[in-house]
Amino acid sequence: MIEIKLNAKLYYCTIKYCAFFVIVKIAYLEGASKKYKSGDTEVVALYPTDFSVSTGELVLIIGPSGSGKTTLLSLLGCVIYPTQGHVNLNNTYTEKLVDNDLAHLRLNSIGFVFQSFNLIAPLNVLDNVMLPLMLQKVNSKIAAQRAHEALKLLDMEHRVSSLPKMLSGGEQQRVAIARALVTNAPLILCDEPTASLDSKSATVVMEHLKDLAKKGKAVVVVSHDQRLRPYANRIVEVADGKIINETSESNSV
Ligand SMILES: Nc1ncnc2c1ncn2[C@@H]1O[C@H](COP(=O)(O)OP(=O)(O)OP(=O)(O)O)[C@@H](O)[C@H]1O
Ligand SMILES: [Mg+2]
Repeated sequence: MIEIKLNAKLYYCTIKYCAFFVIVKIAYLEGASKKYKSGDTEVVALYPTDFSVSTGELVLIIGPSGSGKTTLLSLLGCVIYPTQGHVNLNNTYTEKLVDNDLAHLRLNSIGFVFQSFNLIAPLNVLDNVMLPLMLQKVNSKIAAQRAHEALKLLDMEHRVSSLPKMLSGGEQQRVAIARALVTNAPLILCDEPTASLDSKSATVVMEHLKDLAKKGKAVVVVSHDQRLRPYANRIVEVADGKIINETSESNSV
């Protein structure tokens, strides 16, 4: 959107805000399912499912514990392989890739906030957030600068030297979110990103994720938390390993 202000007396014009992006289906599942086997028992975590996410939208995946939300997100994020069906990320069917190429595609396409944070215990906050940039072989000075910026956004810059074990759950969550944002990936996947946050911090995080979607990122948030509904452009409800309902929200914030 471009807003041009004209002032007849001063004869000036300013471009207030400019956000152009092309809407692209950045990732999708085609009939993707996941079964786990342990001994004689088989758990169907997700039945064959079609799902897609596009740039510029925040999709909320909601459902009870054990319904398959993390499984769906992990398939989309190529953390696990489907038992059946296909996963397409950034225009590439992932089953065609060897491990190194898949790792490269993931690194450049996805920022992932895991339910269990997955911060690296012996690395301090700054090094944790710099890690994806170091893997991308970004110059270390620039990587440190970008990590500081991401941590500042999440109000965690003052803890750069702390180890993860010195942080509260909510603080670890904010560092994990900073790490997911630092590479500027087009797809941000968040598993329960507000679970350990007080309601004020949860609002800040959700507003930030919503802002990223408005600027053209594709954002998928998995949660139990019904209070996140107003932030979503689309809500996908999951139960017993299936998508049971999907709604588009015209009044999202
Ligand atoms: N590695 C695994 N081995 C065996 N079963 C698994 C595994 N991972 C998930 N499951 C099972 O698959 C089902 C879906 O799990 P999933 O983690 O996707 O649920 P969820 O909706 O994310 O739950 P929660 O809200 O508690 O995080 C559950 O019954 C779970 O026990
Ligand atoms: Mg889960």
